[in-house]
Amino acid sequence: MIICICARVSDKTIERCARAGQSFDDIQLEHGVAMQCGQCAGCARDIWERCNGASAVAHIREASETAAV
Ligand code: FES
Repeated sequence: MIICICARVSDKTIERCARAGQSFDDIQLEHGVAMQCGQCAGCARDIWERCNGASAVAHIREASETAAV
């Protein structure tokens, strides 16, 4: 599904970049997401946060795994 209509960036592209470790700023610069009208910014950032390994959920998961060792 296209998330950023202005730059024609899909949710899959944002997910792939986030999982590859790119910051949201990197995705903006590389693909132009949320750089024009900005209407997609919230949704695009939500997708990035859900898929980014550095998200709060990932940190909580890592901490609980470390504590279990
Ligand atoms: S829809 Fe993404 S900048 Fe316009």
